[in-house]
Amino acid sequence: MRSIVMAVVLCAGMASLAPAQDAKAKGEKVYTDQKCSLCHSVAGKGNAKGALDGVGGKLSADEIRNWITDAKGMTAKMKTTRKPDMKAYTLPKDDVDALVAYLGSLKK
Ligand code: HEC
Repeated sequence: MRSIVMAVVLCAGMASLAPAQDAKAKGEKVYTDQKCSLCHSVAGKGNAKGALDGVGGKLSADEIRNWITDAKGMTAKMKTTRKPDMKAYTLPKDDVDALVAYLGSLKK
């Protein structure tokens, strides 16, 4: 299992050659590659229990970033009770930036 996770992380790292202006498109790809949709949905696709539509209007970019890098801390801070807990992702900074750009663009 661990090696699968590492392979996914490595692949995501190699994909980080895309130009910066494509941050949103890249973020969407990272989102797909990291299988965020196992627990989240965007535009009706994925796990409806964790809809992320409108998250860009609800959370600040820093809060979105903290969810990705420190989900445990955010779970405690936001007092969420949904299970399973989100894990902390150790992604290359570029990928986290792209995810933040993508999720930040999801406004209702
Ligand atoms: C194992 C399930 C799981 C996976 C996989 C997962 N999350 Fe989460 N995530 C959660 C849970 C549980 C919460 C707590 C809030 C809730 O109820 O959705 C959460 C919360 C969030 C929030 C805050 C949502 C809000 O409305 O306040 C963001 C943003 C987020 N996740 C992004 C991501 C991204 C990006 C990925 C992929 C890199 C990801 N998550 C993968 C379970 C998961």
